Amino acid sequence: MTSSIITVATMKGGSGKSTLASCLAVHWHLGGRRATIIDTDPQRSIVRLAARERALGGVTVVEDATEEAWKAAKRHANGFGPVIIDTPGFRSQSTLACLFMTDFVLVPVKPSPFDVDRMVDTLNLLTNGVSGRRPLFRCVLTQTTRDSVIAKHVRAELTEAGFPVLKSEMTNRVIYAEAALWGATPSLIERTGAAARDIAAIADEVEDILNVSRAVVA
Ligand SMILES: Nc1ncnc2c1ncn2[C@@H]1O[C@H](COP(=O)(O)OP(=O)(O)OP(=O)(O)O)[C@@H](O)[C@H]1O
Ligand SMILES: [Mg+2]
Repeated sequence: MTSSIITVATMKGGSGKSTLASCLAVHWHLGGRRATIIDTDPQRSIVRLAARERALGGVTVVEDATEEAWKAAKRHANGFGPVIIDTPGFRSQSTLACLFMTDFVLVPVKPSPFDVDRMVDTLNLLTNGVSGRRPLFRCVLTQTTRDSVIAKHVRAELTEAGFPVLKSEMTNRVIYAEAALWGATPSLIERTGAAARDIAAIADEVEDILNVSRAVVA
């Protein structure tokens, strides 16, 4: 997955897109890959995070909220490391263009019926294809309480509806917001802690899926 483009997207606001995008980028960066984040959200969450003390550990952050953001992603996918695109929590031409060319889409979902209903639009868009192309995607449960009934229920509901869900979850933990205060992620604060392990597991699953898809194409 050396230079894969991964887009984090859902039209449901506040579901954990920017948190997931920054955590994955820092994780891969710490692992020696040159990760880049393209911040396509006019709210500039990632740009503002990177302006804080820990500066996301030195991950390259590119700000581009225009409809040309996908071109910036392509330019940075130069063989050195993964490119992660953070998108706004609403439908935009910029996001659609990114979904059209990305290698993989991660759709964060909070385990509540309100959130699931709101992001079904995104999933339908992905399963029906964007301009005729159906990008590879997975949902990922965020802000979950381990082994809660609602998380299990939402996982089952999504799977049944034909929306694949990653096995790993981004459990609800206060360290995400605390780390963000310093412009960091859990992997920078406590490398072997529970949150950093959650992120590592998500990253490994994404890599495995990308490696399999590449092998199939080859
Ligand atoms: N696993 C988690 N545990 C605890 N808090 C979390 C977790 N993931 C995200 N959060 C918190 O939830 C809030 C929303 O997260 P975030 O900003 O990443 O969502 P978003 O989808 O990018 O929102 P927007 O649509 O506004 O861009 C933040 O305060 C963040 O710290
Ligand atoms: Mg965001």
